[in-house]
Amino acid sequence: MSGAARTVSVNRVDGRLKVTGAARYAADQPVERLAHGYLLLSTIARGTVRAMDVTAAESSPGVLAVYTPFRSLALLGSGTPFSVGHSWLPLQDAEVRYHGQAIGLVVAETFEQARDAAALVRADYEVRPAAVSFTDGIPTATDPGPFMGEPARLEFLADGVGSIDEALAASEVTVAGTYQQPGKHHSAMEPHACVAAWQDGALTLYTGTQSASLTVGTMAAALGVEAAKIRVVSPHVGGGFGNKIATWAHPLLAAAAARTLGRPVKVVLTREQTFTITGNRSAVRQTVRLGARRDGTLVAVKHQVWASQSASGGIFESSAHTTSRYLYRTENLHLDQKIVTLDVSPPTWMRAPGQESGSFALETALDELAAELRLDPVELRLRNDATVYPGRNVPWSSKHLAECYRVGAQRFGWARRNPAPGAVLRGEWLVGMGMATANYPGERFPASVNVRFRPDGDVSVSSATADLGTGMWTVLAVLGAEALGLPVARIRSDLGDSTLAANLGAFGSGATASTGPAVAVAAEAAITALITLAVTDERSPLHEVPAADVRYDRGELVTSDRRIGFPELLRTVSSPGVEATGTAGPGPEHGQHAFTSFGAHFCEVRVNRWTGEPRLSRMTTVVDGGAIINAKTARSQIVGGVIFGIGQALLEGATVEPQTGRIANGNFADYLLPVNADIPPIDVHFLDHPDLLFNPLGARGIGELGTVGVAAAIGNAVYNATGRRIRDLPITLDKLL
Ligand code: MOS
Repeated sequence: MSGAARTVSVNRVDGRLKVTGAARYAADQPVERLAHGYLLLSTIARGTVRAMDVTAAESSPGVLAVYTPFRSLALLGSGTPFSVGHSWLPLQDAEVRYHGQAIGLVVAETFEQARDAAALVRADYEVRPAAVSFTDGIPTATDPGPFMGEPARLEFLADGVGSIDEALAASEVTVAGTYQQPGKHHSAMEPHACVAAWQDGALTLYTGTQSASLTVGTMAAALGVEAAKIRVVSPHVGGGFGNKIATWAHPLLAAAAARTLGRPVKVVLTREQTFTITGNRSAVRQTVRLGARRDGTLVAVKHQVWASQSASGGIFESSAHTTSRYLYRTENLHLDQKIVTLDVSPPTWMRAPGQESGSFALETALDELAAELRLDPVELRLRNDATVYPGRNVPWSSKHLAECYRVGAQRFGWARRNPAPGAVLRGEWLVGMGMATANYPGERFPASVNVRFRPDGDVSVSSATADLGTGMWTVLAVLGAEALGLPVARIRSDLGDSTLAANLGAFGSGATASTGPAVAVAAEAAITALITLAVTDERSPLHEVPAADVRYDRGELVTSDRRIGFPELLRTVSSPGVEATGTAGPGPEHGQHAFTSFGAHFCEVRVNRWTGEPRLSRMTTVVDGGAIINAKTARSQIVGGVIFGIGQALLEGATVEPQTGRIANGNFADYLLPVNADIPPIDVHFLDHPDLLFNPLGARGIGELGTVGVAAAIGNAVYNATGRRIRDLPITLDKLL
């Protein structure tokens, strides 16, 4: 395996299944005697369920059972690993922690019967006052304690500097801004769903998940069953974006109900239910203060963050520690993360958790500083490019951010930008250009892959990883083909099943970087096993040839005078196949470098001078993500990330009703997402600098990077177009009037 530049660009191997509707997602699995569950959700934000009247529901047609906190399904809630998305298990007590929490499950013969019966259940609550307003909670925000291996309040000061404020006060130029964004929802095309089927004390759970193995561990602990008795199957996932990592209420309840009823149970969340059952991104307020010299050199960065957190736990948005922490060189750095704990549904990881919001604040502040200094925003960033990871003094393994800026500026035509805000008018549109930096850490974990030579002439390459639209099916095929010297069409990839070779799954943009290197290791081991079979089986034409005299070449075993293809060999010796499992992971030397993917976004925006409507005209994104394994699916990842950022910039935001804690727009009619008409032409360019210190493929991650910085680039372009600095997302037309 070499780190040489790859130019492979192949279609998704699972593409035909997907576009013909043949791909089976969790809810599509054909299971006999299936019963259907429908979740009941709380209609208050905080309190206790005093009683639930289920009489009408129970006598409703087709109803098999109604489970509530008072007639519960036993879940244990102990053991490890345990990755439920909230701090409690459903229906094990009568507490209501937020509006839209699971308080019951109705199981019936059909989905419609379960849903209709659920509407007949009456819950009687003892209501307690709930804190649901993020803004109101800011004055009493708390320190969450250390995370990401560092304290929530992190400070580096130059010798002789007493405080960050002193450093700011002594700076020749300063800017300061407060940046806000509402909570957001993952909104995957496939809603969360599961089918739980027991047989002989063993559970098969079909559910869309980014981590079949974490789900196994969680289900085992909650159900009080050995992990070996649980299989999680998730071949296709219709989008995840982070909220298909943790396990939520529906599979726990479906599995427990299926066990009690002796029938398989399916639960498909409605779109509205996904808004409260399955996690979200924190609402965030940030203050960024920058101090610089007249030449643009940053001397002080102070980045304060307030993020919403749930009283039920969850993963809050860590905006400063993921961006200002290392993105630019500065003598004085101060980061401070606070959380506002509310009676709302738990936040969780959401595409570029931390970086998404942090880059909006930091990269907007940089633009404000550039304007103040009358310095080109690209030039300002070039002058502050960090060459070693600040405070750790380790170099990056491979960092080409400066090249991203230069190449991006060139491709985009940045030189044509008029730096004067509001100076370009085309018809009724004010036109502006903006840019911003993207960053996302290179994540890598140990992973295993199985390679199997099959008598039919194909080779299976399999691992318990996931493909949530990310292209992993295809990446396994591409890497298998490369390792074995075979056409991609002869590789059968397989994934999304916890019984396959051990793999943590797909998150942290680390699936390819972690799983990919194991393909070559497994291929090597499978070739050795194939040669061993060839020289030891007496039916083999190579029987008793010294193994050292046999080499593998593109699907054939070759000696000085013979050549035999593996399908022929396997058939000759009546072998069902030869396989081997290989594992790869980061070694101890990994700590000697910092690993980060970088990028630069450039965009052109037009703002209607009469209505304030902002529209994107075009975007260019240049990516330094190491080697690219499959250009086609890689481009899709970046385009998807950019579109995610367009949603952040212009459209998305949850509105929580202050009186009730209900998400007022928790549906696809009211929660606005980018549609085709919102998406401009997106020019994606990959720098091809393999990061061989990271892994033998030289590939870092690209799944989340594309989102980071998009909102700032758009906001900066809006400023250039109009002279209006919008620090509150989303940037809607009312803010531009
Ligand atoms: Mo990602 S937010 O780790 O799916």
